[in-house]
Amino acid sequence: MVEPVLQTRSRYLLQISDCHLMPEPEQRFRGLNTDSTLQAVVADALAQGIEFDQLLLSGDLVHHGGADAYRRLLDMVAPLSGERHWIPGNHDEPAAMRAASDLPLGRECVVCGDWRLLLLDSTANPDGRGSGSLSEEQLGWLEQALETSAEHPVLILLHHNPLATGSLWQDQIMLGNAAEFARVVSAYSQVNAILCGHLHQHQALWLGDIPVWSAPASSIQFKPGQDDFLLEDDPLQSRPGYCIYRLDADGGISVQVRRVNV
Ligand SMILES: [Fe+2]
Repeated sequence: MVEPVLQTRSRYLLQISDCHLMPEPEQRFRGLNTDSTLQAVVADALAQGIEFDQLLLSGDLVHHGGADAYRRLLDMVAPLSGERHWIPGNHDEPAAMRAASDLPLGRECVVCGDWRLLLLDSTANPDGRGSGSLSEEQLGWLEQALETSAEHPVLILLHHNPLATGSLWQDQIMLGNAAEFARVVSAYSQVNAILCGHLHQHQALWLGDIPVWSAPASSIQFKPGQDDFLLEDDPLQSRPGYCIYRLDADGGISVQVRRVNV
C-alpha cells in the first residue's frame, strides 16, 4: 500500500509598510491622516478572510513619534491574525519601539512552516536623507542564518530596497551596502524572495534569480521613475496599499498587491 504524501499547507504573510503614523492621531502626514489609511488597510485585510500566519510591519511605522504612537499602531493592527514582527525604517526610533513592545528589532529568524523568514534591521550608518545600511553584525548574522537554513526555502525582509529602481532621488537613499548584501545572498541557493518597503510603491525586481518585491505604503505613494521627489498622482497607484504573500511548502511564493479606498 502506498503511503499518502503528507502535504504541508500553504502559509500566508501580511506585509504592511511605511505607515508613518504621526505623534498624535489627528496630525496629518503630507495632507493625509495616516491613522485613517492604516485603519482602511486593516479593514481590507480582515475582509479577505485569510488566516495570516505572520504579520510583517516593515518599517517607517511611525513618523518621528514616541512610544505612544507605536502602541497606537499595535492597537490598530490588533484585530489581524498572525504573529507580529516589526523592523525599523529610517523614520523609526528604535528606543521608542523597545519601550512600546518587546518584539525583536531585526536579526529575527521566524519559523513559518517549511520556510524560514529572516528579518533584518537596515538602519545602520544613516546618511540623514533616508538611506540606511546593514551593520556588520546584521550581515554576519544573515550569513550564519543562511548557513544553518540550507534545507529550507528562505525569505528575507528588510526596510531599504537592495536594488535601484531608476528613480534618481530614491536610488540615492536605497540600501547603502547593497553590494555586500547581494554578495551574501547570492552565495546561497535557498533564498526564494526578498521583501522590502521604503519605496512607497510596488516594485517587482530581480536580484539574480531572486524576486525582490517592495510593498506600497499604507500611507502616501511616491511616483516611480522620477529624478526628484514626487507624489504619485495616478488614481489607482496613489491609493494606500499592502501585500499578501502565499508561501507554498515546495518553496513557491506568490504576491497579491492590494489597494484600498479612503
Ligand atoms: Fe517611508
